[in-house]
Amino acid sequence: MSVVLSPVEMTHRLNTQRRVMDWLHWWRLEEWQRSPFLQVLEDGKGAALAVPIGCSPLSQGQCGTGQAWLRWCALANGASAGRTLRQLLERLRTHLVLFGVRELWALTLTSDWLHPYVADLGFRLSEHIITFARGNAALSEAQSPAQVSPLMLSLDLDALVEVDATAFNPPWQLGYADLRRLLRTATLGYVALVDCRIVGYVCALRERYDEAHIVRLAVAPNWQRRGIGRALLTAAMRALAERGVTYISLNTMASNAAAQRLYSQLGFVRERRRGFVWCLRLDEDR
Ligand SMILES: CC(C)(COP(=O)(O)OP(=O)(O)OC[C@H]1O[C@@H](n2cnc3c(N)ncnc32)[C@H](O)[C@@H]1OP(=O)(O)O)[C@@H](O)C(=O)NCCC(=O)NCCS
Repeated sequence: MSVVLSPVEMTHRLNTQRRVMDWLHWWRLEEWQRSPFLQVLEDGKGAALAVPIGCSPLSQGQCGTGQAWLRWCALANGASAGRTLRQLLERLRTHLVLFGVRELWALTLTSDWLHPYVADLGFRLSEHIITFARGNAALSEAQSPAQVSPLMLSLDLDALVEVDATAFNPPWQLGYADLRRLLRTATLGYVALVDCRIVGYVCALRERYDEAHIVRLAVAPNWQRRGIGRALLTAAMRALAERGVTYISLNTMASNAAAQRLYSQLGFVRERRRGFVWCLRLDEDR
């Protein structure tokens, strides 16, 4: 007798399989169970979640940006990867286009099971992500025209969203929902204030007891190149050191020379691992 599983049960089952790509950021998969962006194949062979930028699990697609990230994807053991991924992509394409999304972005590492398939699915390589790391040796305080203060949950989130949106280009901007969740999850963060206005911020996540990752660093364009980025990063690194963190990593795009110079100046060293950023234009002919 065959047992009919609900999409929720199928997603749970798929989440324990060998081929799971999980880049959910600060969300949990269960939070997306009722979202139109989580697509499950009826035969239970695969499921995928592609989230438009700025979207939260509760917003039902009312987020109106033209880009989405592939955040989670899983295949049942034994399912044909090529065929199942193609089917999933077709499903996602239909739903995303309906919500005004024109570009689907994906991030892979060479060690990821998904990596060999993305080019065949029509994604084009757009960028490389590189990682830097540093043992948390002592750092002196950095001077800047801004006051650097601990980031509070009660801060003006709209102002932070604005800084983020002006500092980053799509698809790297974080919307309101992502930023709020990030602030709740972050181990620590700092904002840079000029005349009580937020002009920059940094957020770090402790990944193990003695390891942390700088998740976000941004300075509003009008305030860049005045020492604020260095002051924010230094404040975060000092606070992490006080909490016992001895190893800090961070990422940036291979094309981001400004960030790389800042990281090198602060003693970060480039690591070998590289990420691949892919883009699929949903309105192009297949
Ligand atoms: C990267 C960023 C945070 C730097 O902040 P900032 O306040 O402008 O940086 P600072 O003024 O503290 O500069 C510190 C060092 O970074 C390097 N740097 C900063 N901006 C630079 C630029 N436009 N070109 C080259 N080097 C630059 C320099 O080495 C500089 O030291 P120097 O002025 O003594 O030469 C900022 O440019 C930014 O928000 N960019 C967009 C978002 C981003 O890239 N985030 C981080 C990576 S994901």
